[in-house]
Amino acid sequence: MPEPIHPDALHSPAAERNKQPILQALQSILPAEGLALEIASGSGQHIAHFSAGMPGWRWLASDPAAPALASIAAWWPGGSAPLQLDVQQDDWSLPASHQQLDAIFSANMLHISPWASCAGLLQGAARHLAEHGRLIVYGPFIVPGEALAAGNQAFDADLRQRNERWGLRSLDQVERQASACALLLEQRLAMPANNLLLVFRRAAL
Ligand SMILES: C[S@@+](CC[C@H](N)C(=O)[O-])C[C@H]1O[C@@H](n2cnc3c(N)ncnc32)[C@H](O)[C@@H]1O
Repeated sequence: MPEPIHPDALHSPAAERNKQPILQALQSILPAEGLALEIASGSGQHIAHFSAGMPGWRWLASDPAAPALASIAAWWPGGSAPLQLDVQQDDWSLPASHQQLDAIFSANMLHISPWASCAGLLQGAARHLAEHGRLIVYGPFIVPGEALAAGNQAFDADLRQRNERWGLRSLDQVERQASACALLLEQRLAMPANNLLLVFRRAAL
């Protein structure tokens, strides 16, 4: 996809690199059609790519930051208006058409926001995932018992220096939080550049 020539369009080189591997993973995990919400859409490069590559899916973008909302509209001019949504809100105020979702996707949010965002994301997923729905979370994580790649160690240190409430999250803590929301880690896919793609489903299934 060519870069949009639009003053509001933010550009994430990482999103440009990882959007295709993530799309391929989503295509392998999810059925051919459904309704998806992206949390923390950021620049909008991901959702523009996923929407084009998964034509059976209807996507809704969201982010709490106004510059992100403008950028999403610039990258994805054909998309529906993005929601201003902070996962820590008790009520995500989703439109009536999007109360029950087949998929919720979020990339690179948990380590660049306070730990409470993890609970917010999982609690919101528990409220809004359809019975068969999946929460898919992409990013770098600390996996207990596995060496943390040097690049992720440096990234974690940099994040914590920038904001003491930020930092890579430990997978076992995320799983515990998920369990408190009756969600189970179903799949864990290794992705390029030492990232993971985590797939959660309802525990009762
Ligand atoms: C590093 S960017 C990731 C953007 C995009 N998902 C990507 O991977 O390129 C982190 C994003 O998380 C969003 N964010 C931070 N705190 C949040 C929260 N509490 N609820 C929802 N989004 C949040 C920020 O506004 C920002 O757009």
